[in-house]
Amino acid sequence: MDRESARERILQLRQTIERHNVAYYVRSQPTISDYEFDMLLKELERLEKEYPEFDDPGSPTHHVGSDLMPGLFDDLPESMHPASGKKRSRASGTSGASDSSDLSGAERPAFRQITHTYPMLSLGNTYNQEDLNDFDQRVARLLQGTAYRYICELKYDGLSISLRYHQGKLQYAVTRGDGIRGDDVTANIRTIPTVPQQLPPDKDYPEDFEIRGEVVMPRDVFNRLNEERIRQEEVPFANPRNAASGSLKMLNPADVAKRKLACYLYYLAGDQLPSGSHYANLQQAAAWGFNVPLEYTKPCDHLDDVFRFIAYWHEHRSTLPFDIDGIVIKVDDLKQQQMLGFTSKTPRWAIAYKFPAERATTKLLSITYQVGRTGAVTPVANLQPVLLSGTVVKRATLHNADQIALLGLRTGDMVYVEKGGEIIPKIVGVDKSQRAASDD
Ligand code: IVH
Repeated sequence: MDRESARERILQLRQTIERHNVAYYVRSQPTISDYEFDMLLKELERLEKEYPEFDDPGSPTHHVGSDLMPGLFDDLPESMHPASGKKRSRASGTSGASDSSDLSGAERPAFRQITHTYPMLSLGNTYNQEDLNDFDQRVARLLQGTAYRYICELKYDGLSISLRYHQGKLQYAVTRGDGIRGDDVTANIRTIPTVPQQLPPDKDYPEDFEIRGEVVMPRDVFNRLNEERIRQEEVPFANPRNAASGSLKMLNPADVAKRKLACYLYYLAGDQLPSGSHYANLQQAAAWGFNVPLEYTKPCDHLDDVFRFIAYWHEHRSTLPFDIDGIVIKVDDLKQQQMLGFTSKTPRWAIAYKFPAERATTKLLSITYQVGRTGAVTPVANLQPVLLSGTVVKRATLHNADQIALLGLRTGDMVYVEKGGEIIPKIVGVDKSQRAASDD
């Protein structure tokens, strides 16, 4: 690639990535899978490294995607308005609930913004063992031969939240926002029963601290909510993560309470933490009354144990009541974490191992054609219902007629369905071996 094409590609990638960041974090409606997104980001990282003269501090490789609500979408058409999906038909007359998507103009939601005491960062992603080996080697090199251990945790697929406590009392709850400041969603977080409003007085917690974690929508709640939305002729959510983030950004806490969100906590931040071990701090936080999922958290002295933890949850993830999209691996010792430090957007002491998309096989019952608002016609595959990542899939998108030809699809075929990064499932292949010989 020559210099000029590299420059053009870099600019194009930045624009595309920023667009997908808004779709994911602000509108809660991603249009590509996490994997596809990560590949774009990695390509951009590679090009910026190769052509440092085109690097730019404003590049999405140097900052986290922002979920901040105000301002960002002022120039978006109403149909692309954030959060929780839009009514198919306003004639059905069930407005009432204050989903932000039902609002317009001056009524648009505006949360107060709060600056984080400690910035909220993202995590580096890997998709294979080799990258994880590289990560481990880098950690070993930077720690100069001293022993270290990892804590493995689930990577909850929701949206991150930071809870601030003063003298055991919940002060505020803030979304990650742009990593520096986030939206104040305290009133909404108070509707989650496992989030303590006040810690018991006899526990030995610091005067001030922050505890961070993930707000998720359990799968059974998600399935019921979507069934209800379909009955009410509202657009269903694509996945539990979108439903959780759309719900947490609703304006009326009474509506949020109905969404039955859950919150899992995985990180303690503060100046006077009880221990120099991340794991011991999590145990303490659990003892103070926080919902810390210790049953899904495992100290690992060797990388082999990390790989075993990953393999176990890769196989058993569908038994969990909520979605996960991978495993998070963290160096346990806080002093070692400090030695390893941070890049501009991720810690060097932690990494996410992301699972590949889940796949299921089912029968293609028929193909119907849907006319979108813009008049574009999209083929839709109607499938024999099949369980995929904990939700029942009955339909999949087929981007266009070419794709039907490319896959060689026929009604009655057994097809492979994938939820790339958990968005609307797509057909990725046909099991032609299951066709009757006479059909070929
Ligand atoms: S640690 C600096 N632990 O993943 C530490 N994050 O892709 C950063 N996430 O923004 C967070 N499960 O929203 C951590 N067990 C876990 C997590 C987790 C899910 C989310 C979090 C973060 C994102 C990064």
